[in-house]
Amino acid sequence: MKIAVIGADGQLGSELLKVLVEDDVTPLYYPVFDITKPQETRDVLRRLAPDTVINTAAYHRVDECEDNPEMPFLVNAIAVRNLALMARELGCVLVHFSTDYVFDGKKGHPYIEEDPPSPLNVYGVSKLAGEIFVRNILEKYFLIRTCGLYGEASSREKGYNFVDRMIELEKEGRLLRVVHDQWVTPTSAAELAVRVSELIRTSHYGIFHMTNEGQCTWYGFAREIFAILGKQPRLEPVDSRTFRAKAPRPLYSVLENRRAKAIGLTAFTPWSEALAVYLKKRGYLSGSTC
Ligand SMILES: NC(=O)c1ccc[n+]([C@@H]2O[C@H](COP(=O)([O-])OP(=O)(O)OC[C@H]3O[C@@H](n4cnc5c(N)ncnc54)[C@H](OP(=O)(O)O)[C@@H]3O)[C@@H](O)[C@H]2O)c1
Repeated sequence: MKIAVIGADGQLGSELLKVLVEDDVTPLYYPVFDITKPQETRDVLRRLAPDTVINTAAYHRVDECEDNPEMPFLVNAIAVRNLALMARELGCVLVHFSTDYVFDGKKGHPYIEEDPPSPLNVYGVSKLAGEIFVRNILEKYFLIRTCGLYGEASSREKGYNFVDRMIELEKEGRLLRVVHDQWVTPTSAAELAVRVSELIRTSHYGIFHMTNEGQCTWYGFAREIFAILGKQPRLEPVDSRTFRAKAPRPLYSVLENRRAKAIGLTAFTPWSEALAVYLKKRGYLSGSTC
């Protein structure tokens, strides 16, 4: 399969490159390839003529989006509309990613693909706008909502993912104050990439929820990281109101992988198992670099 991967050095993009080794893949890196520049984007995609375009690019600094709504709308909505129009023109399949933050959290049990979105923050609204463009413009698309992603491409310069940030702060001896009233499913970018590779070889187009199995709060996630590492950090549960993040977040945004299961996709592992695999690969577990 001829595939263009946008955002190829991001958490998910870099894992996709590792998985799609049997395919004819062109990685596209920001800022040389920038989806907010429609003419250049069209020229590159026309020249490549891929069967499938995988867009992992996003503006997802959730709190910054509240003060600067232009950027998330440009990257997460307008540029996605342009990509969808180009995919239609080129006759290729678009694979695009969205978020659990399209939901308001009031349901209180796992969201299925058909649940009506109702985002609470600017980031969620911009991602929902991107979803709507993809669904309205294309027939052949995979729109994948995921949650709490962490992957090896995280670095200090890129603003650590949650796992690496917790480990770094603990090393500095800091008190870790983590919200205990927001329920999510931490999801391994490496495992998601494997499942995406499986999905795009089917013709089951449409919207999918794809996360690891199970659920926890961000506090529970942090506790599990240190339990696996055998460490006792200074960890304090706080509620969202005390934490006072700029962007409101849903208190419950767990996604159910209902369609993925229905089409017989290989099941995701429980989130704590996937976390242990990540910690081992990263070399955080003593004597376990690989
Ligand atoms: N991270 C999460 O917890 C999470 C949760 C739910 C859903 N998602 C969704 O999952 C997808 C993948 O997320 P991720 O964590 O892999 O993100 P990521 O690590 O930030 O990767 C995104 C990649 O896209 C690049 N990029 C940014 N702006 C671009 C532009 N205008 N044109 C082209 N490329 C651009 C980034 O480059 P730079 O790094 O140089 O900016 C980066 O390489 C996104 O759609 C996101 O909304 C993420």
